[in-house]
Amino acid sequence: MANEIYSKVEKCVKAIRKVTDFEPRVAITLGSGLGNYAEQIDVKCEISYSDIPGFPISTVPGHAGKFIFGYVGKVPVVCMKGRVHFYEGYDISDVVLPARVMRRLGAEILFLTNAAGGINYTFDAGDLMLINDHISLFAKNPLIGQNIDEYGTRFPDMSCVYDKELREIILETALKNKIPLKQGIYAQVTGPSFESPAEIRMLRISGADAVGMSTVVEAIAARHMGMRVCGISCISNLAAGMLNEPLSHEDVQKAADKTGPLFEKLVTECVKKF
Ligand code: HPA
Repeated sequence: MANEIYSKVEKCVKAIRKVTDFEPRVAITLGSGLGNYAEQIDVKCEISYSDIPGFPISTVPGHAGKFIFGYVGKVPVVCMKGRVHFYEGYDISDVVLPARVMRRLGAEILFLTNAAGGINYTFDAGDLMLINDHISLFAKNPLIGQNIDEYGTRFPDMSCVYDKELREIILETALKNKIPLKQGIYAQVTGPSFESPAEIRMLRISGADAVGMSTVVEAIAARHMGMRVCGISCISNLAAGMLNEPLSHEDVQKAADKTGPLFEKLVTECVKKF
C-alpha cells in the first residue's frame, strides 16, 4: 500500500525540483531571533511554501514561510524561514514534512534553531544554549503510524540525536568568536499555552534545561532518515513561575529578536565549518 505521507513528501520534492536543481548540504530551520538570517546567505533561489502544493503554512504572526537556497561561505544551504507547529492543528507528519523534504533535496545536516524558555537556574534571558539532548515524551512522536521504510527503520536509535562532532565544532566556534554558549537538554511540549509553574518544576526534575514547542519532532524525523542533527536555543525568557511576571508571545519574540545578531553570527561561523 502506498504511504500517503511518503507520497506527499515526494510530491513537494518534485514541485521544488521544477523550480531549482540546487543541492543543499546543510538545512537550517530558523526560529525566532533569526528572522533576518537571509542577509547572511548568498541567495540563489527562494520558494514560498504557498507555491508548493500540500506544503504546511504557518498561521503564527511573524512566521513568514519560504525556503531560501544559497551559500553560507562555500557551503550550499537551504533555510526554512518559518515553520509550522503542532499546536496550530497540523498533523505531526506535516510538522516534520519540511525536514523530510530538505533531506530528500540532498541535505545531510539539519541545524535546528528555536526560542525557548529557560528552566535551568543558571540561565538568563538572552542566553544561547547548545542542545545536547532532548526530552520528546511530552510531544507526539512523528514516527507513529506505518513506517516509511524508504526513509528509515521502524525503531531508530536515539542515543546520540545531536551529533557529537557538530556539537564540538559549535562549542569551539563559540569560544573562538567569544560568544557565550550554555549547554543543556531541551524538552518539547505541545503548547500553545505556556507551562504552569508546577509543570516547569516537573520538567526541571526530569532533567530539562529549556522548554519549547518545536525542534524535537524534527530532530527525530531527521535522525530516522539518517541526517546529522544539531541545534541551538535562544533562551528568550525564564520559564513560568521563575520570575514574578506573566509570559507573552510578544515579549518572547522581542527578546529573541534582541539576540538575533549574535545568534546569526554563531550559526554562520558554524555552518562554514560543517
Ligand atoms: N515555554 C514554551 N515555549 C517557549 C517558551 C516557554 O517559556 N519561550 C519560548 N518558547
